[in-house]
Amino acid sequence: MRNSKIAGVGHYVPEKVVTNKDLEQIMDTSDEWIRERTGIVERRYFTEGTDTTANMGANAARMALKNAGLEASDLDMIIFATLSPDYVFPGSGVLLQRELGLKEIPALDVRNQCSGFVYALSVGDQFIKTGMYNNVLVVGSEIHSSGLDFSTRGRNVSVIFGDGAGAVVLTPSESTDKGILSTHLHADGEFAEELATIDPGSKKKDRLTHQMIDEGTIFPYMNGNMVFKHAVTRFPEVIEEALNKNGYKASDIDMLIPHQANLRITSYIQQKMGLSPDKVMSNIHKYGNTTAASVPLALSEAVQEGRIKEGDLVCMAAFGSGFTWASALIRW
Ligand code: UT7
Repeated sequence: MRNSKIAGVGHYVPEKVVTNKDLEQIMDTSDEWIRERTGIVERRYFTEGTDTTANMGANAARMALKNAGLEASDLDMIIFATLSPDYVFPGSGVLLQRELGLKEIPALDVRNQCSGFVYALSVGDQFIKTGMYNNVLVVGSEIHSSGLDFSTRGRNVSVIFGDGAGAVVLTPSESTDKGILSTHLHADGEFAEELATIDPGSKKKDRLTHQMIDEGTIFPYMNGNMVFKHAVTRFPEVIEEALNKNGYKASDIDMLIPHQANLRITSYIQQKMGLSPDKVMSNIHKYGNTTAASVPLALSEAVQEGRIKEGDLVCMAAFGSGFTWASALIRW
């Protein structure tokens, strides 16, 4: 069976920069607390009327297509990972398809939050492996800033999240020892409500009530300590799984692209895996946590900065709401 490879990467972030100091003006928080606990210095927020989840994804996709030397019309499929779609339905994949001027190729939305992009990459990889499609666009894009609780009540979540997008174009690899070597996907629904936006969901007779708004159940909730504990276990586990499957050791990794959840989590993984800091990509200080966009955004910047070269062993890993977690090992 053939492998797929990442033929091009791209990203897009909205222009508006929001610093920790800016957040100090609207809630009881401090630059010091945010930097110390998360490593975040600033994040981007979308501009209404200019940015949407779908068109930010399209901007990232255009860059990925250019880098792959392909036209949008060469694409066979779109896979769009997001937890913040433009509409409740339809998904953002069809909107991106329209934005790119494409007709009839399939568009699939993936809802796996922080591991959404790695899940989506795995889905695209399977379609190429089976020979069903050749050129698959995989996008992660999020607008969080329109759905956060900016009162002090929501500060543990709101200071973390930012808006952004990233994309890759998958094509068939020339050989089976290059490209995506394997992907590894996991979930544990036991903890579904520990990191979730509960309302407006379908299980209540009235989907949206004043009470939901007043009580803040329309905003994301996170049991930060619990998520943190699971994250620091699952990240190393799923990275090891990918390495073992392919007969590699942690020291063989040239670049680790972890989901950018918290600098403390990234540093923990780096130390636990015995990797030097230059082998672990981090851009959380600039963008915060952009959920499904975080891995492709970090990957795209790593490529742009010349930190990944042909032949490198690249590992992506993510953990988040669901809980879901995933990894991908790539020979670049
Ligand atoms: O991307 C999906 C996966 N997500 C993650 O992996 C995130 C995992 N969790 C975390 O990164 C951390 O748990 C947080 C950054 C969310 C929180 O850090 P923490 O060190 O776990 O803080 P905490 O929730 O235990 O809160 C410590 C204190 C509390 O005050 P008291 O009770 O000690 O007086 C909070 O009320 O910090 C307070 N606090 C804040 N203070 C200033 C919580 N948020 C803030 C804030 N500014 N934004």
